[in-house]
Amino acid sequence: MGRARRSILIDTDTASDDAVALIMALRSSEVQVEAITVVAGNVPVEQASRNALFTVELCGADVPVVPGAGKPLIRDLQTADWFHGRDGLGDHGYAPSNASLAQGHAADTIVKVVRQTPGIEIITLGPLTNLALAVDRDPALVTNVSRCVVMGGAPCCEGNVTPAAEFNIWVDPEAARAVFRSGLPIELVGWQLCRGSAVLANDDIARLKSFGTKLAEFAVTCNSIAMRALHTQTGEIGISLPDPVAMGILLDPSLCLASSDHFVKVETTSALTRGMTVVDRLNVATDPRNREVWAETVYSGTQLNVCWQLDVPRWKALLFDALR
Ligand code: BDR
Ligand code: CA
Repeated sequence: MGRARRSILIDTDTASDDAVALIMALRSSEVQVEAITVVAGNVPVEQASRNALFTVELCGADVPVVPGAGKPLIRDLQTADWFHGRDGLGDHGYAPSNASLAQGHAADTIVKVVRQTPGIEIITLGPLTNLALAVDRDPALVTNVSRCVVMGGAPCCEGNVTPAAEFNIWVDPEAARAVFRSGLPIELVGWQLCRGSAVLANDDIARLKSFGTKLAEFAVTCNSIAMRALHTQTGEIGISLPDPVAMGILLDPSLCLASSDHFVKVETTSALTRGMTVVDRLNVATDPRNREVWAETVYSGTQLNVCWQLDVPRWKALLFDALR
């Protein structure tokens, strides 16, 4: 008898790297995707929902796709079409899926699915608005979640929207702050983990294309604008895949080679460092002299597990298997 699949819920602002992460989950024999909830981020929520439906159909899967928040909790939405294209998938004119979105709001779906599925694992690939709304509606839901993998932040390093912040946290820092304080067992997968040797280089891309599968072709093509944007932004050549890195760690936790638990605070007030994920590696948060600054984080009692190192060769192998 085979092992039971682990239940997961994916929250996503579906654009090009999100789509590849969805493919990894939908093709995995390890997990059962109970629902895909969609949030505004890379593109408006309507477009992100269309992209999620398209990807589900491409995989031949049958999973409810539920739209949610159309904007951050208190701020205006800032999209990343400059990175992913206006449609989020590189502007190649993919024909929309014939499938329909599920009824309801993503936040209610998160509450309902978590209640029905004790021990479920959640992964967030976009701004944390939907999850913040869900936790606000039902704070007790956190006790039913066994893992919450968050693609977000730039712990102790440079961000990708500003020198201080990574996109998912920067877009809705108030939501990130609420989720980080909620008591969810968070594993933080920061943007820096998809850089350097984790970027799909030209030989990786050639290998993917040699598979000749529609999924490999799609994964490369839908990231065409993202590849150019990465080069403009960082000078790196290739395709960087932050969401698939997080998905890899969700599917196989041993891909995270080094992690540690810390209080993490999200900056919400400063214009300069909005959305910065400040990780207390120095253990100053519990020092009474720092009480005023760290109190809300410390007294929420929650430390986050921050991933520092990715097993790049094994992650690429997992990714390639999903696209073969
Ligand atoms: C994150 O922001 C988005 O552009 C990507 O989809 C990813 O979730 C990386 O900062
Ligand atoms: Ca994303």
